[in-house]
Amino acid sequence: MKIIKPIMAGAFIALATAAIAHTGVKDPNVKARMDGMSAIGQAVKTIGTMMKGETAFDGAAVDAALAEIENRAARIPERFEENVITPKSEARPTIWESTDDFNEKALTLETLAATRQGTVSGPDDLRPLMGEIGATCKSCHSEYRD
Ligand code: HEC
Repeated sequence: MKIIKPIMAGAFIALATAAIAHTGVKDPNVKARMDGMSAIGQAVKTIGTMMKGETAFDGAAVDAALAEIENRAARIPERFEENVITPKSEARPTIWESTDDFNEKALTLETLAATRQGTVSGPDDLRPLMGEIGATCKSCHSEYRD
């Protein structure tokens, strides 16, 4: 119990934070895709804080973050299958007019995250990696997110 308790507390805090960020989002589709994006954001943050030297370099943690991004990115197409936009959503209607392009951008992120696992051997590799990741987020957000 001594080990499990802090882990559960941590998981609870993470859940609570997500719930606060998405207060008022009732549509399950919108909530699920926002939660998926938030998880991607958290994984990127893990790599970003390491890049800034705020946390110690940890290659295994980078690979775990990349695996998380890969898995979450793989689910973007199904998460955005339903054409639904609510007031809290930042999704643009063009997603459902250009589904192929949207899904291709998701695949670009998934592939990048997959192929970079195991390639980061030191802190100097983090900046270029973050640059590549950031560009894929931006290429989709700039067209499909308000
Ligand atoms: C294929 C397109 C696409 C890619 C790639 C993508 N996003 Fe998003 N992202 C979106 C869309 C669309 C939304 C808005 C969803 C909504 O509000 O309904 C969004 C929303 C978000 C949000 C806000 C979630 C919330 O709580 O409302 C974060 C954080 C985020 N993305 C991070 C990232 C990061 C970091 C990356 C790159 C590693 C990334 N995204 C890559 C399309 C994408």
